[in-house]
Amino acid sequence: MASISRPRCRYHRRCGRKGVHLLFLLFLGGLSFASASCFLPSSPSLLQNNKQYSLEEYHQRLQIFLSNKRRIDKHNADAGNHTFRMGLNQFSDMTFAEFRKKFLWREPQDCSATKGNLVRSTGPYPSAIDWRKKGNYVTPVKNQGPCGSCWTFSTTGCLESAIAIATGKLLELSEQQLVDCAQAFNNHGCSGGLPSQAFEYILYNGGLMDEDGYPYHASNGTCKFQPGKAVAFVKDVVNITQPWGGKIRSALPSSSQCDKTPDKVNHAVLAVGFGEEEGLPYWIVKNSWGASWGMDGYFLIERGKNMCGLADCASYPVPRV
Ligand SMILES: *[C@@H]1O[C@H](CO)[C@@H](O)[C@H](O)[C@H]1NC(C)=O
Ligand SMILES: *[C@@H]1O[C@H](CO)[C@@H](O)[C@H](O)[C@H]1NC(C)=O
Ligand SMILES: *[C@@H]1O[C@H](CO)[C@@H](O)[C@H](O)[C@H]1NC(C)=O
Repeated sequence: MASISRPRCRYHRRCGRKGVHLLFLLFLGGLSFASASCFLPSSPSLLQNNKQYSLEEYHQRLQIFLSNKRRIDKHNADAGNHTFRMGLNQFSDMTFAEFRKKFLWREPQDCSATKGNLVRSTGPYPSAIDWRKKGNYVTPVKNQGPCGSCWTFSTTGCLESAIAIATGKLLELSEQQLVDCAQAFNNHGCSGGLPSQAFEYILYNGGLMDEDGYPYHASNGTCKFQPGKAVAFVKDVVNITQPWGGKIRSALPSSSQCDKTPDKVNHAVLAVGFGEEEGLPYWIVKNSWGASWGMDGYFLIERGKNMCGLADCASYPVPRV
């Protein structure tokens, strides 16, 4: 049951002062082959991604964009000291403070999963796995928009894949239902939540509707759950503690680039596989910032070091099918 080859919901990174870097690098990361020229502004109305600006804001955005661009170029020029390249994306005209305010959780929260149910697993494990390539197990990358609802996307992503692995049927599940209805389980809509608590909600609520039945609109709303339209069900919720936590945590801090304590976690994502490249083990992670972010919406993050606190509050659901 606890085979590492299952997609896992992981809880990630609160990058505080020190951590600004990693998160920043992560959210700019991956688009390494995008040519800079196609992003450079040609008129006040078009900085990138067809965003519209007033003339005044345009100049301000341009400064921020150029400063990000300089930072990317500097990073990439120093390639020998880094394991990843940076690139421009739809957030490149924002400062990190703006980005954090819009997309990440505001308050620090303790997401520690140490009191979770013990997971025992004996292996053997494959050396690499990518559930995106094994079959139809992972839905397309979605976009949370300007709402701190990452926790709903990692929740649906994880349950979607768990159900697909169990039944062969890949559904797209509703994030909005979690935004609107899961408050009793200590979740806060666009202001944050925890996947493990969202799974608990689905378990006790008696199901989750699908994307078409309860579509996403990136803002808080009132609960419109219709029990008759629930399509996905949870039988049990597992917090991944030992041995995974221990294993993942075994080689603690090597990076000063982001914080890794449970109170500093501020983003939730979904691991869909793992592998190793040039001696560097990594997780393959599905994000919820659209398919044009990172590597087609995904990123790789070092495995074996509790990087950015990814092992602090990992969880997954056991679907009822
Ligand atoms: C790595 O960084 C150090 C110190 O910042 C610098 O002296 C060195 O040239 C860099 N190495 C490469 C390969 O870029
Ligand atoms: C899993 O961890 C979360 C976050 O700390 C907690 O709210 C939840 O009660 C834990 N679940 C179990 C089954 O221990
Ligand atoms: C969304 O709703 C939650 C809970 O109902 C509340 O705590 C939060 O402040 C709201 N967030 C926004 C951005 O309106």
